Amino acid sequence: KKFNILSKLLDCGVVAVVRADSQEEAIKISHACIEGGIIGIEVTFTVNGADEVIKTLLAHYENNSNVVIGAGTVLDVTTARIAILAGAQFVVSPSFDEETAKLCNLYQIPYMPGCMTITEMKRALEYGSDIVKFFPGSGFGPDFVKAVKGPLPQINLMPTGGVDLENVDEWIKNGCVAVGVGGSLVAPAKTGDFARITEYAREYMNKVKTARE
Ligand code: 3PG
Repeated sequence: KKFNILSKLLDCGVVAVVRADSQEEAIKISHACIEGGIIGIEVTFTVNGADEVIKTLLAHYENNSNVVIGAGTVLDVTTARIAILAGAQFVVSPSFDEETAKLCNLYQIPYMPGCMTITEMKRALEYGSDIVKFFPGSGFGPDFVKAVKGPLPQINLMPTGGVDLENVDEWIKNGCVAVGVGGSLVAPAKTGDFARITEYAREYMNKVKTARE
């Protein structure tokens, strides 16, 4: 199951960070992203009732085995448990948390902790993180990835924070396995323009595909 989830996320190469003002908005954003080809959805726990959003999306896409619904901004193991019980297929957090890593390993759910330094990344690898979220990406830039992959060629990095349509190809070309995208993808939700989110999602998918060639 874990390998299946990872392979879908890695194939797609983009995880949509769905941070919204309401459950309804989060659901609409998620549908718009999926329609545009971004099948990796990270529902952040800053959304009230994020676990309900996860359940709703899982039920909606029950017959679409390509879609992967995970939980984001999981700050502690209690939240991770709520997310996993709701059916979250992966767990993302802004920092590394040992207890969360253990819980995810127990249930064989990919854990993607946010790491900035080599020390944190090394720890995440030791605790079995298959994909490490490089956060906040904008604070370092794509060249940092090349530098990290010198001593840690085995690490799978997913930069998040500040990824946009201008720099996404550079992140991928520098060796990132995927990117996490929030604001630059979901911003049109503020004006109710969900069709625009679908267009952006398509553009992200095209850019990642081209950058990988
Ligand atoms: C977040 O925590 O919301 C993510 O890091 C997304 O960052 P972004 O909005 O800059 O893409």
